Amino acid sequence: MKKKLIAGNWKMNGSLAANDALVRAVAAGVADAAAEVAVCVPAPYLAQVAALRGTVALGAQDLSAHESGAYTGEVSAGMLRDLGVHYVIVGHSERRQYHAESDELVARKAQRALAAGLVPIVCVGETLAQREAGETELVVKRQLAAVIHLNGHCISEIVVAYEPVWAIGTGRTATPEQAQAVHAVLRAQLQAATPRADRVKLLYGGSMNAANAAELLAQPDIDGGLIGGASLKAPDFLTIVAAASALAV
Ligand code: 13P
Repeated sequence: MKKKLIAGNWKMNGSLAANDALVRAVAAGVADAAAEVAVCVPAPYLAQVAALRGTVALGAQDLSAHESGAYTGEVSAGMLRDLGVHYVIVGHSERRQYHAESDELVARKAQRALAAGLVPIVCVGETLAQREAGETELVVKRQLAAVIHLNGHCISEIVVAYEPVWAIGTGRTATPEQAQAVHAVLRAQLQAATPRADRVKLLYGGSMNAANAAELLAQPDIDGGLIGGASLKAPDFLTIVAAASALAV
């Protein structure tokens, strides 16, 4: 079985002191894990975490769709690469919602990441209103289709995270059956685009925690997790990594 990927998304949290303690504890706890582990940290802390990370992969939370130039405040793929970044989240629902990122912009960011040798973690997910209107499949397929359209030739290099918006930070998790159903739709969509769809990791994100991770990760098309709140507490994050490791044997 392919190794699961457990990625923490710290969002806009942390401090030099808090990061130091958290990354040291995570790095020590995952040294022998049979899962891939990553932390996606705020850009100002990438260099700090790069020096402490051990076997934990370094991730960023966003990047510019531009290569370089007069784009004040933006961070380029090349800069992330310079700092040893491997993964970069694109299209998180918080960026779609608060920064008006369109499917097309998200696709261009994924393209920029791939061109720099970074692995984009492409987030898709429906709102509660969309789920209740029966539009879940339509929404996630439209979001992923934009990325496939622009990046078809190297689409097997991406990671996809299904993050139902109604489950993010709410304590309300998708059931394993609900998550698996959407993951199966995404897998089929990838299969239509590439013969290597089986190697694409499909992560679930949205209130995944130490108590519910094992059941979610046991689903056939759930290849890992993108963890928000629970990634800020080393014991909780390590429990999720252990659940993922147990499924690799
Ligand atoms: P929570 O785990 O805090 O619900 O956040 C999920 C998420 O948005 C990860 O990207």
